[in-house]
Amino acid sequence: MSNRKAPLQAGEITAGGRSFLLRMGEEDLGEVYPGMVRYSVELWEGERMLSAFRTNSFEYAPTMAYGAKDVAERTFARWERDLAADPQGFLEGITTLESAPVHVPPGPPAVVVIQGSPRPGGNCSLLASWVADEAQRQGKDVQVVFPHDMDIHPCIGCYQCYNTGTCIYEDDMTSVLAAASGCRLLVVCTPVYTNTVPAGTKALLDRFQALHASRTLDQSQVINASGTLGRLPPIKAKGVLMSVAGRRGKENFTCVSRVVGAFFSLLGIGAEGPILLDGMDEIRDVRTIPGLEERVRESVRNALKRDQK
Ligand SMILES: Cc1cc2nc3c(=O)[nH]c(=O)nc-3n(C[C@H](O)[C@H](O)[C@H](O)COP(=O)(O)O)c2cc1C
Repeated sequence: MSNRKAPLQAGEITAGGRSFLLRMGEEDLGEVYPGMVRYSVELWEGERMLSAFRTNSFEYAPTMAYGAKDVAERTFARWERDLAADPQGFLEGITTLESAPVHVPPGPPAVVVIQGSPRPGGNCSLLASWVADEAQRQGKDVQVVFPHDMDIHPCIGCYQCYNTGTCIYEDDMTSVLAAASGCRLLVVCTPVYTNTVPAGTKALLDRFQALHASRTLDQSQVINASGTLGRLPPIKAKGVLMSVAGRRGKENFTCVSRVVGAFFSLLGIGAEGPILLDGMDEIRDVRTIPGLEERVRESVRNALKRDQK
């Protein structure tokens, strides 16, 4: 996805009887976002990359007096100076590939269900329970995620995940990303709140940006600067949206469909046909809708069947 160019700067440093190579590089990430450029400063000893600093142009707000290239150049100069002056002190102070903890997710579940309503026992909970039960009947492991019961910090748009493939926040999202990145079916059950998804669910969807970002790094670039989560594989799941709205009319799902559609497409998830239930203010309980439970179960079976082909 990235387009690495020849190094902008390189310098050999001999210090403490050891020989190092310091390199500053530039990658064009224009395929990811228009104009995005990532700079890296890498410290090598022979064939081994000891440490890396990365910064990208999207991290810097328009009012800032400096940009990614300036910061990378200053980092290069500082590393060059400090390494030559005190190699041992410098190497002790940096995050090395060996010292950074790599998160190895346990066997991910085949099916992840995001139960996006803050209301326990509500209609989305019922939909999610039918999905989970049917997936288990089909012999699949299932994880149901309740964003409103979890510690999920909203994305702050720092764009640092495009340097490391990980988020700067280490919270409950770490385990959600690990589960979702390996799953085969991702079902989002969400009510319509003010035309879109509830706030906690939106926070969770936004934080998936880190998975998108991790796709801009190849394995040789992986270094856990944040020390939280190893780079995760891209999602190969199918996605299904199930949504309920109080008002009557399918137009009430316009925004939710776009939000969840954008979420699926950001991650390269192929969307299956949605189940959209309007008029819930009057209906009150999805269990009273004739044939609905079977429709939900069939949609799960079909998505899992298509996955096996
Ligand atoms: C804060 C809030 C905002 C809502 N906004 C909308 C809306 O914009 N359009 C709509 O059709 N229903 C709206 N509703 C109704 C919910 O979509 C409806 O009650 C739904 O069944 C709740 O899902 P649940 O039973 O899974 O909690 C809103 C409800 C709440 C609490």
